[in-house]
Parts: sequence; structure tokens; C-alpha cells
Amino acid sequence: MAHVSDLIATDIEQYLKSHEKKSLLRFITCGSVDDGKSTLIGRLLYESKMLFEDQLAAVEADSKKFGTQGEAIDFALLVDGLAAEREQGITIDVAYRFFSTDKRKFIVADTPGHEQYTRNMVTGASTADVAVLMVDARKGILTQTRRHSYLVSLIGIRHIVVAINKMDLVDYSEKTYRKIVEDYRTFAAHIGLTDVTFIPMSAFKGDNIIAPSDAMPWFHGTTLMGYLETVEIDETRMQQQPFRLPVQWVNRPNLDFRGFAGTVASGSVRPGDKVRVQPSGKQSTVSRIVTQGGDLERAVAGQSITLTLTDEIDISRGDVISTVEAPAEVADQFEATLVWMHDEPLLPGRPYLLKVGTKTVSATVTHIKHQVNVNTLEHIAAKTLELNAIGVANLSLDRAIAFDPYIANRDTGGFILIDRLTNNTVGAGLLHFALRRAHNIHMQHVDVDKAARSTAKHQKACVIWMTGLSGAGKSTLANLVEKKLHAMGHHTYLLDGDNVRHGLNKDLGFTDADRVENIRRVAEVAKLMVDAGLIVLTAFISPFRAERQMARGLVESGEFIEVFVDTPLEVAEERDPKGLYKKARRGELKNFTGIDSPYEMPQSAEIRVDTVSLDPDKAADHVVDCLVRFGVLPGALD
Ligand code: ADX
Repeated sequence: MAHVSDLIATDIEQYLKSHEKKSLLRFITCGSVDDGKSTLIGRLLYESKMLFEDQLAAVEADSKKFGTQGEAIDFALLVDGLAAEREQGITIDVAYRFFSTDKRKFIVADTPGHEQYTRNMVTGASTADVAVLMVDARKGILTQTRRHSYLVSLIGIRHIVVAINKMDLVDYSEKTYRKIVEDYRTFAAHIGLTDVTFIPMSAFKGDNIIAPSDAMPWFHGTTLMGYLETVEIDETRMQQQPFRLPVQWVNRPNLDFRGFAGTVASGSVRPGDKVRVQPSGKQSTVSRIVTQGGDLERAVAGQSITLTLTDEIDISRGDVISTVEAPAEVADQFEATLVWMHDEPLLPGRPYLLKVGTKTVSATVTHIKHQVNVNTLEHIAAKTLELNAIGVANLSLDRAIAFDPYIANRDTGGFILIDRLTNNTVGAGLLHFALRRAHNIHMQHVDVDKAARSTAKHQKACVIWMTGLSGAGKSTLANLVEKKLHAMGHHTYLLDGDNVRHGLNKDLGFTDADRVENIRRVAEVAKLMVDAGLIVLTAFISPFRAERQMARGLVESGEFIEVFVDTPLEVAEERDPKGLYKKARRGELKNFTGIDSPYEMPQSAEIRVDTVSLDPDKAADHVVDCLVRFGVLPGALD
């Protein structure tokens, strides 16, 4: 193939121009480690011989790594380069390769084949138009093939190539090929993959990669390159969908110009088009489409633009500008598929940051409906999702967002979950649909409010949140503080771990997931009590920062006073009022805080109480003094 076109020599300008206009196809390769992915990618790179531009850089990097000089790069070296990366443990990342032919440019994401690397597969696949599934002709369809196919269907890749490789090792047998095709067809139909193309090949020998193979005259289908050069690109399809522009930023260089910048996720737009901004629902008309190269008459999916509108309406980052005919939906509760990507399991009830398009909100998983066994497609019950697990769950957001179901739009329907404290990406997900209750349950306005209720009690409602190890003295301290407040004439209520666990929370144990739910319920109850105008004291270990932060977030600023009842583990264990530490040490009590379950110390509690140097009564006085100092309680002079 004349990929490095003769034009390079004769008319470089013309060559670059033709290159610029070529469409870009993104694809992934997946399969087990020995199925021949590296060989295939090496073969494609080699055959396309794009030792120019980006590819030249990649090749140079490879040569350097292997001590080869200049451009004497051969097929084996490319293959080895990829294999070496694998051995060096780079497998946990997706490797992107660029190559080009006369017809198209390509980016291939090589995703590692190992069982546990769901994450890389999801990362590499989320933008892909095509998935090339490698199957070893000698082995046929394996669990791994099914697993990858399921992920590919989940992620919404529409075009699948089943590359039946190593045909040379089965004597190019048509029978073997037919058997694999039949096996896979049945399975593919099961998971809803419809556009599947089968190609028998030998990546090593080059059969059916670029040119039809003489060794397999019985095969009349396309070669792999022929397929990749002609298959429909997702971006083209997305241009037919309704217009969506997730707003990345608001561009306001001066008072006369206010533009909304972002990349068109789907559809097309022209000046004069009527648009609706979600979630606010406000409508306006497009006035200009501004780009660096001047104004456009039309912009389509994939283009980065700045829109100006004819009306001054409030729009901020994360809003979605849609066509009025088929606007994005708006909701704050969803069913979604989740792929968990972190060592620490997903905990229902814990708030995570959810990023969809350009919008970031706070979200909790309210209920895991089931986990999917990716190998058998069975649904299994689950309370959490561990690393690489895939499940279906309900999500609740702290505010409504604009969205589309993932199957309609990957950009406005796909999301990631981020840990609020570490900022790690811990999960990815696909929105299915808004829960109907999100539309049907509204906040009811009441006339007698928190201020009215607490004024009647002559106090400022708040939560005094005690946290610390078991045996730290939380209950003792909370009890004494409550007595003092009561004596001062305040209306209080004490929520104590041991008591609440006998009633409201008697269904909960001490796994991380149960503790998160324990604190979530207590925090919600405390919030209601603050709304009732009470001074609420809570005494729970509340071992995780994330949930203490969540409890804080439920009430207004200044209403949450965290009290760290700071007792070193040795001291709490020495006191051991209920004999539980001894039990835990003997191994008779599992998940005991401080022993085999973590306690995350507060980093900025409003009050710290040292129970080693202060006796309980002094400690309670200290808390009351602090509350006066913070203005929560009226001072002696008031
Ligand atoms: S929390 O971690 O979910 O906040 P909570 O404060 O409600 O815990 O309950 C802690 C009390 O339960 C302890 O004071 C102790 O009496 C009892 N307990 C029983 N098992 C455990 C355990 N595995 N870890 C900690 N406390 C336990």
C-alpha cells in the first residue's frame, strides 16, 4: 500500500492537506494475553508504514528504548516493543498508538487482556468506534472473550470485529472458523451485539490484514484494514442526534460579549436555532457560533465552539444547551450501571463526586440492585461493589442535572465517580433513566420553620457531633454536656450509638457499609431534630471522615460542631468498659474499630477533648465553654 504517499516527495503541502481532511477512527483491541493483540497492532503499524509525523515520534521512542538507531525499524521490533511494555508492568495503563493510511487516520487503544483490568478496558473503550476482539483459532471463544464482549456492549461500542487469529496454526481450516463464528453469534445475540464482523486471519503472517489471504480462498469477506477504513465513525452518527453542548466555561471578556464554550457532544447548530438550557429550562436563540478561525454558519458534533445567545440568561459551567425540539432530560435520581475501579469498595450511602459531561455534583448510591457476574452474565445480590465489579444501582444526586441515557449519548450519559477526600476516580457509570420518584416527590413548603421553632425555644439549634474510639468516653461526655445544657434551660436530645443501634438501626452491623449507613441515618435524624429547633448531641464512633463530612453538609454552616473525643487506643483498650477490646483481641469480635477496622482521626474538629488529662466533668465544662465562645450558646453576660 502506498501509505507514505508519493506526494510526500513531490508535493508536501498537498500531502499534509489531504491528511488533515482524513477522518479519524478510534478502536480498541481486546482479548487474552496470548491471542496475538501485540502482533496485530505491530502488523498494522508496520504495514501502514506511517513513519512520519506522530508515528515517527513513537517509532523513535521505541528505537531508543531498545537501543536501535535511526529508522531501521522492523516488524519484530514493534511487536517486541509492545510485548516489553507488557512485561514492564505498563499493562495497567492503556497504550494508544497512532497510524494512518491513505484513507483514514487511526488511534488504537491496546487494552491489557488480564482478567482484573476492567478499568483499563473501560477507559480505553469509552471513546472507541470499533472493538477488535481477538480470538485464538485454536482455543475458540473463552470466558475472557465473553467478558470483554459484555464490557464492549455495555460501553456502547457498536461495531465489533471478531478477529479469529492464528489461522495458520489450524491449517487455515474453514471448519474451525465456522464453528467459532457459530459459537460467538449465539452469545452476541444474547447481549445485544448486532453489528459483528468475523475475519479469519494470521496477524503474524499477514493473512487478511491488508490483503486477502491466498491461504483462505474460501473466505470472501473484507480484510481487517478494509473494514477499518470504511466502517462508519461514531462521530458521523452523533451528528444526526439532537443538539447538545455541555458548557465548559462562560467566556466573558467584556460587558458586550458573553459566550458559552464547549465541545458539541451531538447534533448540529446554526445561528437562529432555538435552544433550551438545562437544567434551568430557560429558552433562547443562537445568535453566533464563534471559533478561533471566525464565525461559523453551522457547527457539528466534535467541534469546539463558543455560542452566543440573543437573550441574557443565566448559564453556568455544567449546564447543557440543547435543541428545543428534543432537549436533554433533567433529574436528580437515576438507575445506572456502575463499574467499580478502586481497591476500596463502593459504599452505598457515602457521598461521592459525580462528573457527567462538564458538571460535577455530589451523589450517593442509595441501593445496589444487583451485581453482574461478567463471565456468566448472572445477576447476584450485592451490598457493595469491589474492584472491577459491575453492578446496577440507584443513585441520588444533591441537585438535578441535565442528562441523556448513555445509549443515546455517551457524553451526556456517561459519568465517573470521584472520592471526595482523595480526589481519586473510583468508578465509572452509565445512566439508564431517571427514577420516576425523582419527578413525583417534591419538597413540601412549611410555614413554621427552623428559625421559628428554635426562637420559641430561645436557642440556636445545632448538632454537637462526638467522634472517637469505642471506650473513648463519648457517651459519658455527651451525657454530662446534655445535663449541663438542660440545667441551663436548653431543649436537647442525645442520640447515642448503643441506643440507636437497638432501635432505628438494629438491622445494621459493623462492616464498613453498615457503619456508613448507620451514620447516614443518624445524620438525617440529627438534621430533622435541628429543624425541630433542638440542640442535638450525637455519640457514635463515626470512624470515617467522609460520613462526618456528609453529616456536616446536611445542616447549615455553623450548625455542626465536631468534638473529637481524643483517647489513644492504648487508653481506650485499658479502660475496656464492655470487655469488647479483649474479645476483639481474642479474635471473637470481627471488624472492631482500632483493631481490625480503621478509625480516621478528625483533622479539623471544632473541639478536641483530651480525656487523659481532663476528668469527665472538666471535659464537659470545656465543651460548654467552647460552645459559648462559638456563639452557639448565649454567654454569661447575655
Ligand atoms: S459506628 O462505627 O457505626 O459509628 P457506633 O458508635 O454506632 O459505631 O457503635 C459503636 C458501639 O458498638 C461501641 O461502643 C461498642 O459498644 C459496640 N460494638 C460492637 N461491635 C463493635 C465493633 N465491631 N466495632 C466497634 N464497636 C462495636
